[in-house]
Amino acid sequence: MRAVLCRQHGLPDSLGVEDIADPIPAKGEVLIAVKAAGVNFPDTLIIQNKYQFKPPLPFTPGGELAGVIEALGEGVTGLSLGQHVIAFTGWGAFAEKIAADAKRVLPMPEGMSFEIAASFVMTYGTSYHALKDRAALKAGETVLVLGAAGGVGLAAVEIAKALGARVIAAASNADKLAVCKAHGADDLIDYSKEDLRERIKAITAGQGVDVVYDPVGGKFSEPALRSMAWRGRFLVVGFANGEIPSIALNLTLLKGCSIVGVFWGDFTRREPGASAQDLTELMRLLAAAKLKPLVSETYPLDKVADALNAVMQRRVTGKIVLVP
Ligand SMILES: NC(=O)c1ccc[n+]([C@@H]2O[C@H](COP(=O)([O-])OP(=O)(O)OC[C@H]3O[C@@H](n4cnc5c(N)ncnc54)[C@H](OP(=O)(O)O)[C@@H]3O)[C@@H](O)[C@H]2O)c1
Repeated sequence: MRAVLCRQHGLPDSLGVEDIADPIPAKGEVLIAVKAAGVNFPDTLIIQNKYQFKPPLPFTPGGELAGVIEALGEGVTGLSLGQHVIAFTGWGAFAEKIAADAKRVLPMPEGMSFEIAASFVMTYGTSYHALKDRAALKAGETVLVLGAAGGVGLAAVEIAKALGARVIAAASNADKLAVCKAHGADDLIDYSKEDLRERIKAITAGQGVDVVYDPVGGKFSEPALRSMAWRGRFLVVGFANGEIPSIALNLTLLKGCSIVGVFWGDFTRREPGASAQDLTELMRLLAAAKLKPLVSETYPLDKVADALNAVMQRRVTGKIVLVP
């Protein structure tokens, strides 16, 4: 089979596509023919050895996929040959086939395309866990989403809206903000041109925001924290900007607010029951058309570097996928 291989850590252009042996599913695994693989920001980190997970070299990147089951390993129950499934694997998905842990494989909902199925679970799973479980978001509250046109950001916009919140989307240009508006954002801030604090003050009539969803980090985190309402929750989701901000703790005292960490990957491992429940609820919102995931581009396997460079150069809206 053909697979993307990371032979030494580095930037996307150092990746190659090679012919390697088909994987054989071990006990508890299933062999899946990959029909589409979601491209996520963590894929750009894992190939540079900058992510929490550090697979031994050489390895195939790609954290999530959708495909068709081709073989069942020993002891696998509840899944069947030919079944269309979603899998979240951490790495290994940028290939024609993958042997995946059956515990991290779920049936694909009827009527869902492989492209949407391959790019839904990680971003929507993260944003639902963040907003529902970690922030306990209530209808009527106001949510500020930074990097709102990106993968987890746009999912957060849609989920916050579906949970009854007022959503302020912040992003770096007018095209990205137009996408946020089309996906339900009530108010828009172009943080490349506008002052974040002043705009939040104006939009919320001085009240501030109840929840900040921050997958970007860098220079916008502190002004966002300074713009929180009393008892607000600041969600630490990621640092796409590359800079992990240091925050003066007195700001939390003054606002009576919380800074809350979000780590969806560990949540799925430590609390599989709660994670499965979240995914069931998300599939229900999707079926009710309350969520409309955006796949803005697809790439063939040998354009993997172009796909990952698009993420690193801030050119992606919603999600992009690789189609082997
Ligand atoms: N905590 C968790 O469990 C979890 C789960 C999944 C992902 N994450 C993290 O969440 C972050 C976003 O992931 P994603 O998949 O949504 O990424 P994405 O689609 O690339 O979106 C990231 C957004 O960040 C903004 N950004 C600002 N500076 C950037 C830079 N130097 N490079 C790239 N983007 C930059 C961009 O928006 P503007 O151009 O509008 O500023 C971009 O749309 C990543 O740090 C990822 O590791 C965390």
